[in-house]
Amino acid sequence: MTDLLPLGMLAELTHRCPLACPYCSNPVELDRRSDELDTATWLRIFEEAAELGVLQLHLSGGEPTARSDIVELTRGAAKAGLYTNLITSGVGLTKQRLEALAEAGLDHVQLSWQDTDPVVADKIAGLEGAHRWKHETARAVVELGLPLTINVVIHRLNIARIADMIVAACRTGARRIEVAHTQYYGWGLANRAALLPTQEQVEAAHAAVAQIRRELEPSILIDYVAPDHFSRFPKPCMNGWGRQSLNVTPRGKVLPCHAAESIRGLTFWTVHDHSLREIWHDSPAFNAFRGTDWMKEPCRSCPRKHIDFGGCRCQAFAWTGDAANTDPACELSPYHGALRDAVAGPRTNELIYRRFSQPKPVLQD
Ligand code: SF4
Ligand code: FES
Repeated sequence: MTDLLPLGMLAELTHRCPLACPYCSNPVELDRRSDELDTATWLRIFEEAAELGVLQLHLSGGEPTARSDIVELTRGAAKAGLYTNLITSGVGLTKQRLEALAEAGLDHVQLSWQDTDPVVADKIAGLEGAHRWKHETARAVVELGLPLTINVVIHRLNIARIADMIVAACRTGARRIEVAHTQYYGWGLANRAALLPTQEQVEAAHAAVAQIRRELEPSILIDYVAPDHFSRFPKPCMNGWGRQSLNVTPRGKVLPCHAAESIRGLTFWTVHDHSLREIWHDSPAFNAFRGTDWMKEPCRSCPRKHIDFGGCRCQAFAWTGDAANTDPACELSPYHGALRDAVAGPRTNELIYRRFSQPKPVLQD
C-alpha cells in the first residue's frame, strides 16, 4: 500500500495509427484491433481513475480518433470529472469531429508535428500529405477555441530546424510547444543509428532554443526536453516509477510507464481482473521500483537518488539487461561508456517504420 496517488492516466485507446513514425513510443509488439477494450470497459476505467484521484486523462494511442467511439469516450471521461487531453496526429480528424469532441467536453488538444520541411515531415510520418493535414487540424483546433499544444520529437533529420518549428508552432496560435528529443527504447532504440544526432548538433539545438525562448516567451510556453544521451545525469523518468501516473494499454494491461512492457520478467495486472485501485497499490509491477529500497549502487548511496530516482528503468533494462541497474545515461553507471560509444558511433539513413506488419526489429546491440 502506498500513500502516493496518481495525478494522470494515459489511456492508449488503440495502437492503430495512420502514421508510422520510427521513434513511436508504442511497444514493438502492437496490440491488434480485435484485442482492444470495448467502450463500456473504458468508461468504467475512467470512473475508477477519477475515484482513485486521477485529475488528467490523456486520450492517446496510436491515433485515438481511430476509435469510432472517441466522442462517447470523451463524454464519459468529462462526466467522470477528468480533465481530458487528446493526443493526436491530427491526420483523419475533421472539423466536424473536433466540434463533436469539444461539445462532449474535450479540454485540450496535443498535436504532433514532425518537421517544418513538408518533405521530411511526410517521410518521418511515413505518409504523404500528413504535414498538410496536421496544419489544417491545428487551424481547426484554434478556431474552435480549444487550447492547443504542439509537440515535436527531435532527431538527426529535423534538429537543424528546431527554432523554425517553434516559430511555426507559435504562428498557429498554439499556447505551448513541447520539443523533446527522441527517447531511445522500443522503436526509437531500433532506429537509434538513424535518429541520434551528433554532439555538435545537440549543442547547436540547445543554443537555438535558448535564443528563441528569449524572443518568443511568454507569448508561447516552450517545454524543452534535452536528450539524456548527451547529459551527465539521467532524467527523472516518469517522475519516479509508480509515483504519479499510470498507463492503460489497448488490451487493458496497466503499466507504470508506457514502455514498461519492454522490461522482461515484470507481471502486469489487467483491468479485466483487478480494479485500478488494486493495481496502483498492490500489483507487483507498480511496486517493483517504487521508492528507493530496490536501488543498487551507485544509486543507493547517491545524493541525487531523490532527484532523478535512478533515471529510466526501461533504458536501464535495454542497455544492461537489469532494470534495477543505474540508468546508463548517468556518468556514474558502469555502462555509461557503452552509451557514449553509441553516441560517437556510426549513423545510418535506414529507417525502420512502426507498422503492424514490420518484421520485429533487433532491440539490443
Ligand atoms: Fe541518479 Fe543513480 Fe546517477 Fe545518482 S547514481 S545521479 S541516483 S542515476
Ligand atoms: Fe519506462 Fe523510463 S520509459 S521508466
